[in-house]
Amino acid sequence: PMEQTLAVIKPDALEDHQDEIIQKIKQAGFIISHMDEKTLSREMAEEFYKEHKGKPFFDQLVDYMSEGPSLMMILSKENAVEEWRNLMGPTDPEEAKQTAPDSLRATFAKNILQNALHGCSNRLQAMEKIQFMFGDINIGADGVVQ
Ligand code: CMP
Repeated sequence: PMEQTLAVIKPDALEDHQDEIIQKIKQAGFIISHMDEKTLSREMAEEFYKEHKGKPFFDQLVDYMSEGPSLMMILSKENAVEEWRNLMGPTDPEEAKQTAPDSLRATFAKNILQNALHGCSNRLQAMEKIQFMFGDINIGADGVVQ
């Protein structure tokens, strides 16, 4: 069965590499069920990343994610949550270059903060973050928005 995840192209990567990243997502067999360019307010960025509140990099992360438009996408594929994490590669691009040299972060991330892309950790979080970004949205078995 198809699964959905929320994927985000972060502001600097959207400005510099939008077309290449979208091409690689499609080549990897994902359906982009929905996409919307949005600039997150600081408040929305804080809420979106609430799991990281209190970490030393939290304020920098909120600054980064609210500095300009991001591309929010719902990706559909079998096992989409894990497949998207694999395509992104590890959080830190230095690690990505070692362990997943073909991954998107190995290719497009600048550093561990400005790491180009976001994905969800598990299916429950994916449903929560899709709802946060897009509200109630219905995606059919074919990955297309109803
Ligand atoms: P993301 O996968 O979107 O989830 C949390 C984000 O916090 C992460 O990508 C990075 O942008 C950022 N991040 C995670 N760890 C660090 C770190 N050690 N230093 C700076 N930023 C980080």
